[in-house]
Amino acid sequence: MSKNKYDLDTPCLVLDLDILESNLQSMQTTVGMAGKNLRPHAKTHKCSALAKRQLAIGAIGVCAAKVSEAETLVREGIDRILVTGPVVTQQKIARLVDALEAAPAMMVAVDSRKGVSLLAAALHERRMRMDVLLDLDAGLARTGAQTAGALDLADFILSHSELRLRGIQAYAGQVQHIPSFDARKRTSLQSLLSPTAIFRELRNIAESCTIFSASGTGTFDIDITIPELTELQVGSYAVMDAEYLAVGSAQDPERFVSFAPALRLLTTVVSANQDGFVTVDAGLKSLYRDGAVPQIISPENSHLVYNWFGDEYGKVSCSGDFDLPALGTVLELVTSHCDPTINLFDRFYLTSGSEVVDIWPIDLRGCSQ
Ligand SMILES: Cc1ncc(COP(=O)(O)O)c(C=O)c1O
Repeated sequence: MSKNKYDLDTPCLVLDLDILESNLQSMQTTVGMAGKNLRPHAKTHKCSALAKRQLAIGAIGVCAAKVSEAETLVREGIDRILVTGPVVTQQKIARLVDALEAAPAMMVAVDSRKGVSLLAAALHERRMRMDVLLDLDAGLARTGAQTAGALDLADFILSHSELRLRGIQAYAGQVQHIPSFDARKRTSLQSLLSPTAIFRELRNIAESCTIFSASGTGTFDIDITIPELTELQVGSYAVMDAEYLAVGSAQDPERFVSFAPALRLLTTVVSANQDGFVTVDAGLKSLYRDGAVPQIISPENSHLVYNWFGDEYGKVSCSGDFDLPALGTVLELVTSHCDPTINLFDRFYLTSGSEVVDIWPIDLRGCSQ
């Protein structure tokens, strides 16, 4: 395949292979040097080819948010999966157990007695066992057991011979985008104090409890300093987005410099009949609107600014006394929020320089069940 990325039909997603590799290696090395394991979250990239790359360079497994994501990963031959979201209905648990049959090393996070009972009953019927993590609320208040009832729930899990309690999961999502690095550090360490205390107790109760899985891209270099934490379930670092690039980091109070934007959306100027702006072919159907505004990074130093302009289009203007791009010009944007934007596309075009070198299907796209 020899094609220039600027000849692709837009809007489309490209992944800069050199930047992607550098992001993957950098996280793997940092986590490894801290003596921790890496279990990257596939909910970000929704791509089994990318998950395989993460495993090939040292990840101990990958995370899936939902059962249908796990099913697709299993079909693609990936077997070390942690399902991080709760599964609480009989029909979904039946799908989880079907997938477990094909991938016996799969784990799931649990946060309720009902979820535990249904899972144990389904496993009992099929004479199977499954590893589980106790999901703890680390302040996000989304999923996860409250501290007060955590040890009771752990006891309940331990009372079921079909389940093996392997440890805890505690994702502090509310902390990840706090702009100031120092405030983020304080809040993350504080949020993980109570899960850490519970993990210590569980290790004393059951020797199978050896996993403490937590962290995200915004706190990876903070959370690896927690001695009890055993693995990081980071996601966005692989591809990055404008929301993450806008927060401070240990190295730079204004910008997140630990990883570079590998993911770009290409969009074309399709109309240029107005004074002061041009219209591009990427709108809400190809760019998920969340938090930060997409950043135009190519042409470089063009001072171009993207603005929302409905379902199909974007409005591009100039921040200073510079020229607007001509009709037909292809622009490169860093997306607002990588996960939901990726979920709008079928494939990544892998690029090296401006050459398209490969295509990876976004095969977990739409797997929200
Ligand atoms: C449970 C869980 N773990 C890990 C992550 C990865 O976080 P990030 O993309 O910030 O690295 C997410 C993202 O939302 C998540 O929901």
